[in-house]
Amino acid sequence: MGIKAVVAGAAGGIGQPLSLLLKTSTLITELSLYDVVNTPGVAADLSHISSPAKVTGYLPKDDGAKAAFKNADLIVIPAGIPRKPGMTRDDLFKINAGIVKGLIEAIAEVAPKAYILIISNPVNSTVPIAAETLKAAGVFDAKRLFGVTTLDIVRAETFVAEIAGKASPQELTVPVIGGHSGETIVPLFSQVEPKVEIPEDKYDALVKRVQFGGDEVVAAKDGAGSATLSMAYAGYRFAEKVLKALNGETGIIEPSYVYLPGVPGGEEIAKETGVDFFSVPIQLGKYGVEKALNPLANITDKEKELLKVAIEGLKGNISKGVTFAQTPA
Ligand code: NAI
Repeated sequence: MGIKAVVAGAAGGIGQPLSLLLKTSTLITELSLYDVVNTPGVAADLSHISSPAKVTGYLPKDDGAKAAFKNADLIVIPAGIPRKPGMTRDDLFKINAGIVKGLIEAIAEVAPKAYILIISNPVNSTVPIAAETLKAAGVFDAKRLFGVTTLDIVRAETFVAEIAGKASPQELTVPVIGGHSGETIVPLFSQVEPKVEIPEDKYDALVKRVQFGGDEVVAAKDGAGSATLSMAYAGYRFAEKVLKALNGETGIIEPSYVYLPGVPGGEEIAKETGVDFFSVPIQLGKYGVEKALNPLANITDKEKELLKVAIEGLKGNISKGVTFAQTPA
């Protein structure tokens, strides 16, 4: 199976290492890099790596976005500005909302069947923008649109392993649900596999660290941006799972922020939470989301409290995205 993958925002802090990781995948035969700057250089550099993917760089001139996206199977979007100290993800809305909308309009035209993975923040709002834009173009399939929340899971694995004294964080499965910013992020430590005991006196701090782990990186980078390398790893991990599922591998589950009413199993979760966009563990299959798995049945009282706060925050973020997408430019 020949796979054409695209990175939109490929010259950026996340885009470059993410493109590097995608170039190493033997599942990809064509890797197309789009950005408003520097993609010819990034593409020339990556093209010397001896893996199968043929790499091409595109810029906006000569309708470059459409040329880059044409007939793509998988498009990952880390385009847009990142946070600086003191900024929330919502502060990025003004600029990134328009960038995501523009990219999705081009995708709707030339790659309507692509699996779209959105990294650009605020994910809680940019995914609703993408959904509405695809709907307006008549090509929306919720099974193919994913908000990438994997970095929250990667962080949770790392921080839980530290506390539980596990040498190998990757052996842990830590479900993180809800959204992708601050208190909308809900780690479910009661459902970690294999089971771990989180000491009572460490629970609150651990929840906060997963919710606000991104701030540690923003502060340490001191004005030079937010997480890029860990995000590239997380983005690649999620993209690789989607590709493996498309390739026929079964039993692949990873949380992602999706449009619940449009995916199998999602309607019930949307009713229970009262929101249409939400991150839950997703069973991936040949056609994208095979099933949204409901993680809410056995959650603890503490987790219910976290969930309540998350849903309140999400409602505002979602309607802001939907309103933006529906308002004519
Ligand atoms: P960056 O500024 O280093 O790179 C962004 C790239 O996007 C730049 O190369 C820029 O030229 C490009 N760009 C801007 N407008 C564009 C357009 N219209 N079309 C194509 N490319 C365009 O930023 P960085 O650090 O790579 O972050 C990118 C985004 O990812 C930010 O919104 C950030 O908040 C988000 N992010 C998301 C995470 C998640 O967990 N989902 C984690 C970390 C960051």
